[in-house]
Amino acid sequence: MTVTTTPQIPLVDLRAQYETIREEVASAWDEILGSMHLFLGPNCEAFDTEFAALCGTSHAVGVGNGTDALILALRALHIGAGDEVVTVSFTFFATVEAIRAVGATPVFVDVDDDTALMNVDQALSRIGPRTKAILPVHLFGRTVPLARLRASGVPVLEDACQAHGATLDVGARAGSGGTVGAFSFYFSKNLGAYGEGGSVTTNDDAIAEELRLLRNHGQRTRYESVLMGYNSRPDELQAAVLRIKLRRLLLWNARRREIARRYDELLADLPVQRPPLPRGEEHVFHLYVVRAPRRDALREHLAARGIGTGVHYPIPCHRQSAAAGLRLPRGGLPITERLSNEVLSLPMYPEIADAQLETVSDAIRSFYASR
Ligand SMILES: Cc1ncc(COP(=O)(O)O)c(C=O)c1O
Repeated sequence: MTVTTTPQIPLVDLRAQYETIREEVASAWDEILGSMHLFLGPNCEAFDTEFAALCGTSHAVGVGNGTDALILALRALHIGAGDEVVTVSFTFFATVEAIRAVGATPVFVDVDDDTALMNVDQALSRIGPRTKAILPVHLFGRTVPLARLRASGVPVLEDACQAHGATLDVGARAGSGGTVGAFSFYFSKNLGAYGEGGSVTTNDDAIAEELRLLRNHGQRTRYESVLMGYNSRPDELQAAVLRIKLRRLLLWNARRREIARRYDELLADLPVQRPPLPRGEEHVFHLYVVRAPRRDALREHLAARGIGTGVHYPIPCHRQSAAAGLRLPRGGLPITERLSNEVLSLPMYPEIADAQLETVSDAIRSFYASR
C-alpha cells in the first residue's frame, strides 16, 4: 500500500523547533539583510569561535556544506592522486565522494556488527605505504573509538557530520580527536542550518590557515590566489541560525538521549534489535536505528499508520553504480551488506512527545503480533 499523505509522526519534524527560535531568527536575519554583509561576516566569525569552543579545538573553519568540509580537510592534509584513505562503506555517499573528489582511493573496511561503526582492527590492518589518512564516520551520532587509530600515527579525519556535541573515548568532543574533523549543518542534523553549511575543526594552525584559503578560491587578499581552492564560503544568514541553535544544542542532545532511553524500554520485548548502549561516551542520537526482521514490510506497516521512518543506508557506498571499480577487501564487506538490509531509523527529534513514542512502539508491536 502506498501512502501519499504527510505522516503524523514524521522521521524528523523541524517545525516545532522553529517555533521556539522564530523571533530570534527573524531579528538576526533582519539585521543581516539590513547590512547586506552576506558572506564571511561577523556571524560567520563568531560562529567559528563558538563552534570551536563546543568541540574543544583551537579552530573551526566554516565552509559551504559537509561534503566540502571533507574535501577541504583532505586537501589541507595534502591528500591527492595515488594516495589511499581507509574508511567505511556503511556511510552516506559523501564520505566516499570526497575521497574521490581529491583524486585519492578509498580503502574500505567493514563495520562492527553491534555498533555499525568502523572495525578498528580491520582499519589498522589496511594501513600501507600509500595510506595518508584514516576516515572514521561517527554514524548516527555515536563516535568511533579513536585511541588506537590515533596511535597508528596516520592522520585521522573524523567524519563528524552526524555527531555534533558527541563525546569521544579520548575525551572531549567529536571533531577534536583526530587531526581534522568535518561537520555538516544540513537542515536535519542535530545542528542544522536553514540552508547549507559545514565546518572543519582542527588544533593545527597551519591546517586552519590553509582551510581559510581553500574555502575562498585560495585568495590571500582580494583577487590574489595562492592556492587552487573552491567557492565554499559560509553565509551570514546560516551562521546566525547556527549561533542561535548552538546555544541549545546540548539540551536538545540530552533530550535525544532521553528519547532513545524511552524507545529502548518500549521496544525491549519486541523482535527489533535496539542500538547498543555506548561505552561511556555520549551518543547524540542523530538517528535512532534499529535492526528489524522483515524491515521493508514493517516500514510499510508503519507508513500506513502515519509513521515516517528512514533507511540509512539502503545501498552501501561500494554497491553504488557511481563507485563501480573501487576495490574491496578479500571476503567483501559482509556486515555492511547485512546491515543495509536490516536498519530502520525511527522518528527522532527533540520535540517528539512521549505519547508519540508509544504510538510508534505500539505500531511495531502490532506488526510482529499479526504475523
Ligand atoms: C556521514 C555524512 N558525511 C557527509 C555528509 C555530507 O554533508 P552535506 O550534506 O552537508 O554535504 C553527511 C550529511 O549529509 C553525512 O551524514
